[in-house]
Amino acid sequence: MTPDELKSLVRAIPDFPKPGIQFRDVTTLLADPAGLKAVIDGLAAIARPVDADLVVGIEARGFILGAALAVALGTGFVPVRKAGKLPGKTVGIDYVLEYGTDRLEIHAGQVPVGARAILVDDLIATGGTALAAAQLLREQGAAVEMALFAIDLPELGGMNALKADGVAASALMD
Ligand code: PRP
Ligand code: HPA
Repeated sequence: MTPDELKSLVRAIPDFPKPGIQFRDVTTLLADPAGLKAVIDGLAAIARPVDADLVVGIEARGFILGAALAVALGTGFVPVRKAGKLPGKTVGIDYVLEYGTDRLEIHAGQVPVGARAILVDDLIATGGTALAAAQLLREQGAAVEMALFAIDLPELGGMNALKADGVAASALMD
């Protein structure tokens, strides 16, 4: 499937979650058997040469792609969640949003020191979420070998910010 064919499976919903935002809804892509396979095959082809130890997915849609990618690569999967969702002892990172702050957490001990991780999310916009997740993994002593996304919104600069932070990053479509 070409990037344009993949892109045609992503639905744009106007004015969600706020007026003026064109929300790129990947649920239509996930619901399409050929589209879902093409996304996971595409991400796996980029990730496989890295031979990573684990895949780390960002809540919420990064769980769907990340878990499927982990199966394709033969690694385990670790979720990065919004604050207060994980039941065990957590380690976390606070990060700044346009208005206010947010917090991401993982279960303590689930990302081993020295682990070589691939970070996954459905979409990168400003990059704030992925940068914070990458920093959290580094604070655990892991190496973020690569960050992968189905969609990049290039006008928001997230991919460049990740690269400036030393993270190799790719997306399948914009
Ligand atoms: C979206 C998307 C990324 C993040 C990208 O998640 O899935 O995680 O925003 O934005 P950024 O690059 O500007 O940080 P959202 O906030 O909608 O959370 P959800 O997946 O839990 O609904
Ligand atoms: N879709 C999904 N997540 C997002 C978007 C979007 O268009 N913009 C920022 N986060």
